[in-house]
Amino acid sequence: TSPLRLGIAGIGTVGVGVIRIVQRHADMLTARSGRPVTISAVSARARNKDRGVRLGDYAWEDDPVTLAGRDDVDVFVELVGGDTGPAKDAVEAALKAGKDVVTANKALLAHHGQALAELAEANGAVIRFEAAVAGGIPCIKALGEGLSGNEITRVMGVMNGTCNYILTRMESAGLAYDTVFQEASDLGYLEADPTLDVGGIDAGHKLALLASLAFGCQVDFDGVALEGIERIAIDDINHAADMGFRVKLLGVAQMTGRGLEARMSPCLVPASSPLGQLEGATNMVVLEGDSVGQVVLRGAGAGEGPTASAVMGDVMDIARGIRLPTFGRPAASLAKPKRADANVP
Ligand code: NDP
Ligand code: HSE
Repeated sequence: TSPLRLGIAGIGTVGVGVIRIVQRHADMLTARSGRPVTISAVSARARNKDRGVRLGDYAWEDDPVTLAGRDDVDVFVELVGGDTGPAKDAVEAALKAGKDVVTANKALLAHHGQALAELAEANGAVIRFEAAVAGGIPCIKALGEGLSGNEITRVMGVMNGTCNYILTRMESAGLAYDTVFQEASDLGYLEADPTLDVGGIDAGHKLALLASLAFGCQVDFDGVALEGIERIAIDDINHAADMGFRVKLLGVAQMTGRGLEARMSPCLVPASSPLGQLEGATNMVVLEGDSVGQVVLRGAGAGEGPTASAVMGDVMDIARGIRLPTFGRPAASLAKPKRADANVP
């Protein structure tokens, strides 16, 4: 059987994790998908950097766009990041060439998901993004496949591990926001631009993607009401605890009579609830459907192994010939959602 040949752009935290899985589990991947999964070429900025993984067997490209166009690349794996620049250019180039794309890039999809889904369909390609929402938690698959017989009534969750780390650490150690923010930075948790995390933007990107799948509409990041955790003080957390609550950066999206309501903001949740018990840099996604009731998924929302696990889940689907539309239905059938707040004076 012909191998499925990957081109991996971005060999930082997640890219290295993907390479490790392909190298460690070559036989298992072949047995499960029916064809070998191989890597033809990789791309990053610093060619001579030691990344702690064997790269000698792979061709090198400085430019992700060139990588995307290589004849020996069947699937373009985009792990560069950013909603503009090389990530967007290379994903577009791959799709125009009819190549399937797997990405972990929530910012790219939150801003350009509809256009990219249309481009994929126009060229007979698929674009998959399990790793973009809640890292290792397979919530995109759960919504798009396992729960596809349900009318989804609500999606919610804690989708930024850094914020959950900061909030839970402030509470457990009695430390001020600024001190724990510095700690999170020292631990390498923060995005290069930390306002993406603490401003709720990263989690807002993820909620916008989940809402699109859940409610069958175009991704509407601008329609997500955003508030971050920068203004949460230790006193807020202590007062909440006195009343039996914890502060969480919680995302909630639901379809109301007035339209789609989507909000990512600090909320009080009962300390005894599953969301209230979530500690550290962990994520939880809660999906509610008319037949299934409530499904709670919990796991690592970031990091090399968990995020690479999600990327490989998408790669394996492609290897098996599973070709689902990006947002669960044909892109042309997705309309802009009516926003619930559009009617609020
Ligand atoms: P890193 O910063 O660790 O890695 C980014 C990689 O992209 C690096 O290898 C870098 O090269 C390369 N790169 C950057 N700019 C260019 C360029 N212009 N041309 C070629 N290569 C370039 O990021 P992560 O691995 O953490 O994240 C990758 C993606 O996954 C992002 O979209 C992120 O949001 C997403 N994601 C990450 C998670 C995580 O836990 N880290 C979790 C979920 C999603 P070099 O190494 O030479 O600098
Ligand atoms: N900065 C993100 C987080 C990474 O802390 O959850 C995973 O998307």
